[in-house]
This record gives sequence, structure tokens and C-alpha cells, in this order.
Amino acid sequence: MNKMIKLAKLAQKHSYSPYSKYPVGASVVGLSGKIYTGTNIENASFGLSICAERVAIFKAISSGEKGIRDVCVVARSVSPCGACRQVIIEFARDDSKIIFVDWQSSKHSEKITVVDVNKLLYKPFKPEKAGL
Ligand code: THU
Repeated sequence: MNKMIKLAKLAQKHSYSPYSKYPVGASVVGLSGKIYTGTNIENASFGLSICAERVAIFKAISSGEKGIRDVCVVARSVSPCGACRQVIIEFARDDSKIIFVDWQSSKHSEKITVVDVNKLLYKPFKPEKAGL
């Protein structure tokens, strides 16, 4: 877990967030055991921005991973958005853990919360349930 937090914090430093000034870092473990990182990347056309979690997950999947284990997200007042929760659920295992790291570097304040993936969304949209 420490390694995941360290790597997510490193990724957070690469955030491109000139509009929100809200840097986010993420790390995910692929089924192979390899760790992938991501950060949020914004755009002047705001809707084109992408969250840190999705960057990390898409890096993993586009590198050949078939799924992910644990996910770590680092930000001030951290809480993954609904879209990222849905994407996490698509690729995570039933026993995946989500590590929320509420981190404010200026204050050196850190609060770590670990939640089960099945707590992320109420009645998530699942392909097998929808017959997809
Ligand atoms: N953001 C993330 O990267 N992950 C989240 O879970 C929440 C929001 C980013 C998107 C945008 O660049 C900034 O945070 C403010 O919404």
C-alpha cells in the first residue's frame, strides 16, 4: 500500500490542472502485479479533461492488463467522481480495495481510508446484469 501511495503522489506532481488547480494522482495494480499511475489532464475545452483514475486504468488496460486489483487516489478532500467509480468497477475484481488518500502537502496532513470496491456505487451498472 505504501508503494501505491508513493507512486500516486509522484503522479500527482505531473498534474496538468491550470483551470481547477486541483491536482489528483492515482495508481492501480494490474492483474500482472505491475503498477500504473495517472494524473488529471485538463483542457481549455473543459469537457475534454480526464481524471487521474481513468488515465491510470486506461494505461493499464492499453498495456495489456485484463483487469485491475487495488486502486489508490490522492488529492485534497479526495473522493473519486462517479464516472471514475463506474470505470473502476468495470475492471476491478470483487475483492479489490480502493485507497483514498486525503493529502494536503502544504499542511503535511494525510488521512487514509480503505474501502471495498462494492461500496463505490449503489447498484452499479454491470454488463452481465444488463445482458451486455
Ligand atoms: N478529478 C480527478 O482527477 N479525479 C476525481 O476523482 C475527481 C476529479 C479531476 C478532474 C479535474 O481535473 C479536477 O479534478 C477538478 O474537478
